[in-house]
Amino acid sequence: MKEWYKDWFSSELYLSVYSHRNDEEAVQLCRLILSSTQIKDGAKILDAACGAGRHSNYFSFLGFDVAGFDLSKTLLNVAVNSAKDKTLPANFFCSDIRNVPLKSKFELIVNLFTSFGYFETDKENFSFIQQAYSLLELGGYYVLDYLNEKTLRENLVPQSEKMINNGKIVERREIQSNRVVKEINVFSGDQEIKFHESVRLYSRDEILKEAKSIGFRVVSLFGDYTGTIFDENISNRLIAVFQK
Ligand SMILES: C[S@@+](CC[C@H](N)C(=O)[O-])C[C@H]1O[C@@H](n2cnc3c(N)ncnc32)[C@H](O)[C@@H]1O
Repeated sequence: MKEWYKDWFSSELYLSVYSHRNDEEAVQLCRLILSSTQIKDGAKILDAACGAGRHSNYFSFLGFDVAGFDLSKTLLNVAVNSAKDKTLPANFFCSDIRNVPLKSKFELIVNLFTSFGYFETDKENFSFIQQAYSLLELGGYYVLDYLNEKTLRENLVPQSEKMINNGKIVERREIQSNRVVKEINVFSGDQEIKFHESVRLYSRDEILKEAKSIGFRVVSLFGDYTGTIFDENISNRLIAVFQK
């Protein structure tokens, strides 16, 4: 359970469970990011924990010079194949977000759809904010798309079910002190496979305090992918745009 993210994101089933997190949604978020930052045409962008590359490939399509990394080779393969299908450059590599082996600088670094808070300690969870700062050009932007812990705690749906191609997925959620923990049961034929998610809940103030202490300036805070201004009492997401 400690390293739940290794099993879960290397399973093909991840993309079935999160099928609603699709290219259309990625395009919407990329557009919001580009409208709230000022980066040059063809600028270098890093997509941290890029998954199946839905944001990377859209930024590439727009002509940006994009690199994406992720720990899951399964999802990286999907990202590369999807770039090839769209005849886009595919610059993807495998890396742990806690220690990214890069030296070149970027104008924009994104860390999208709750690819944050997976580890046991604050030091590990916050380590990428520090790395992003080091990997940015002066004036460059870091965008963190994370959950809004206040509304998540208040509106947690304890159980939900959905059908997939050959079976059913049952998701059970609970708050365990400062983490949201999800058990995902996939039933297919007479098989049952279990996965876990466990994400550390940080408040808006905790995230901003950390980013500011590293040296970032807060440019904008959005509460959803349409660009509604963040409101801790109602927003589903916390999309923070920081500048170095
Ligand atoms: C919720 S998904 C989001 C993926 C992508 N950003 C998107 O929006 O589709 C979280 C991603 O974090 C990646 N991940 C989990 N632990 C990681 C780690 N230690 N280092 C790098 N990536 C990691 C997973 O493999 C997965 O692709």
